[in-house]
Amino acid sequence: MAKAVKLNYICQSCHATSSRWSGKCASCGAWNSLIEETKEKIPPVGGISGSKSFGHKVALEKLAHKETAVARIITNLTELDRVTGGGIVPGAATLIGGEPGIGKSTLLLQLAAALASQGLRIVYFCGEEATAQVRIRSERLNILNAPIELASETNLGNIIATLSNGPMVDLVIIDSIQTLWSDNIEAAPGTISQVRAASQTLIRFAKQKTTALVLVGHITKEGQIAGPKVVEHMVDTVLYFEGDRGHPFRLLRTVKNRFGATDEIGVFEMSDSGLRQVENPSELFLGERDATAPGAAVFAGIEGTRPILVEIQALVAPSSLGTPRRTVVGWESSRLSMILAVLDARCGISFSQHDVYLNVAGGLKITEPAADLAAAAALLSSFSGNALPTDHIYFGEISLSGTVRATGHVASRLREAGKLGFQRAVLSSAGDTGARVEQMKLYRIKYLKELAVDVSTCE
Ligand code: TYD
Ligand code: MG
Repeated sequence: MAKAVKLNYICQSCHATSSRWSGKCASCGAWNSLIEETKEKIPPVGGISGSKSFGHKVALEKLAHKETAVARIITNLTELDRVTGGGIVPGAATLIGGEPGIGKSTLLLQLAAALASQGLRIVYFCGEEATAQVRIRSERLNILNAPIELASETNLGNIIATLSNGPMVDLVIIDSIQTLWSDNIEAAPGTISQVRAASQTLIRFAKQKTTALVLVGHITKEGQIAGPKVVEHMVDTVLYFEGDRGHPFRLLRTVKNRFGATDEIGVFEMSDSGLRQVENPSELFLGERDATAPGAAVFAGIEGTRPILVEIQALVAPSSLGTPRRTVVGWESSRLSMILAVLDARCGISFSQHDVYLNVAGGLKITEPAADLAAAAALLSSFSGNALPTDHIYFGEISLSGTVRATGHVASRLREAGKLGFQRAVLSSAGDTGARVEQMKLYRIKYLKELAVDVSTCE
């Protein structure tokens, strides 16, 4: 007689399990996040109990085994090839995460079309949309004639059966992993059990058949939907598609890659006819710059191994509020508070009677501490009302003591700035690696105070 299936309640927010339902998760405090799912049975370890063995002996290999170089499917979408480390690896699983509406389906349809027209067999399961909707999108992308095989299917068994029949599939796209469901699991699609089971089955299938697998996973700002976080551990490559929906720029960022470097980025622009690759992002981010306005400083940043110049904009205005306003877009508010505190304590410039707004142009999010110096320059410029010299770039981390600390990748930052016609870089005096770029003068400072003097005297 089959044993009754044991039920468990799993928090969809923190994955804690509980044997009883409650309105609030005891572990993370999230409300209404406990969902009933079947408890997964862990098979007994063969041999230990002595009675039965459940496994068989496997062949062990030596570490010093000559492995041939990983074959790759080169997509010819250079930005995508860059983030995957030179193309998609057959048999490997890739997860593309991102907020709804950011452009995942568009990117994958363009990828599918590019590969299908190379003569590869591409199967696209669009569980979220009807095939008619995908057709409308492909019309917009002008790829209607690409030989992609399409199905709007969400049942895991049917998907595996479809893939097992016919000639070998080179790439399978599952859009999205949250829509899949398996008959064997008593939980709604999108729950952790379903997402985990579907991913495991598909990944195993892909490895066996050396089919490349791309899974789409939705995330929300609060990380509410179960899925991508669970799947991240199982797949070989994790890419995140990011961007601000108010801006056309989209960044594809490598978070994990078993076959290449992480922290790489690919830059795209969402246009009327799909995603366009942006090979020179700095030109784009600086495109609409008004260099003569006070409060704007150009930061020479690094995303992965790639230099990107971006404008940091500050607005400092007298405040009528008891507690002046501090607003940041594309930056961390704690870093802004720190810079304001350092400017006050070490340079004697107080913003306590002023509202401060700091914005990273183009919808980019900056996490690099090297942006501190550019932010400080923008703040001082807006405060004094003097525009910064138009041909300057800034980078350097500010420490609490008011010193400017050295940053890495100096040479590539300078090279990128030189390419775009900048002539002077303001950076830390520490850590001089001898990096120089022709026609680019370096203004090295040790203390933030030196920048404050420079800004107030500049014309
Ligand atoms: P989509 O790829 O459906 O996003 P996701 O799969 O991540 O949910 O598309 C997102 C948005 O992109 C949608 O609001 C419409 C817009 N879009 C364009 O601006 N141009 C285009 O050519 C396409 C296909 C979509
Ligand atoms: Mg989609």
